[in-house]
Amino acid sequence: MEWLRGRPYLTLWIALALTLLGITVSQIDSGEGPAHFDMPPDPSFVKACGRCHTPFAPGLLTVGEWNRVMDTLQDHYGDDASLDGPSRLGILRWLEEGAADGPEATRLMQRIAETRVKTQDLPRITISRLFRYQHQEIPAHVWTRKSIGRMSHCGACHIRAETGRYDRDEVKIPR
Ligand code: HEC
Ligand code: HEC
Repeated sequence: MEWLRGRPYLTLWIALALTLLGITVSQIDSGEGPAHFDMPPDPSFVKACGRCHTPFAPGLLTVGEWNRVMDTLQDHYGDDASLDGPSRLGILRWLEEGAADGPEATRLMQRIAETRVKTQDLPRITISRLFRYQHQEIPAHVWTRKSIGRMSHCGACHIRAETGRYDRDEVKIPR
């Protein structure tokens, strides 16, 4: 932060204000604050749901939406993502516990879910108005790059999406 150099009092006031907000300067610098989304603790989740795309955090859809996704794995957005019974139920339990309308949900999760456009099709994280707002500065031609391909390829730009981290200072848009 070049502009803060030689301005010790300003730095101090900003640090104080951020501390009051529960944020420390080092968190902002290093992106080591809490992750935006909690991920299930067991690696079998990423193995089952991160094989074809970014493993989406439970907090990105509601309980009802996750049930729809998990009830239709044989016909999953045009793919077959079937799981055996026990695996399916185990994953569904994690998804429900961390869902956007579940007990652990944060305001960010609730807002992404509340602003989602209602549809008869399988639910899409990316049709949320808040999601569109957060990504409005990305021009259309960037989304269609080979290295990205689709909006739901979160991990193409959010380099630690697998662990639920979506820090702004870690975004790397691939060429
Ligand atoms: C065999 C490959 C495959 C597996 C395994 C798989 N998916 Fe998918 N999934 C897809 C495809 C293909 C899409 C559609 C991508 C697109 O059109 O943007 C998709 C899309 C999604 C979407 C919608 C994303 C959006 O907002 O556009 C969700 C949610 C989702 N998958 C959840 C899951 C979950 C949960 C699991 C684990 C139980 C899983 N997927 C496993 C292939 C897979
Ligand atoms: C093409 C690259 C790209 C893809 C793909 C992408 N994002 Fe982003 N995302 C960004 C950029 C750029 C920002 C804005 C960073 C800023 O404001 O400085 C952002 C911001 C965000 C934020 C707000 C972070 C904050 O602290 O304000 C969240 C949450 C987020 N993205 C989630 C997602 C999710 C979930 C997906 C997949 C469903 C996704 N993104 C896909 C590039 C991308």
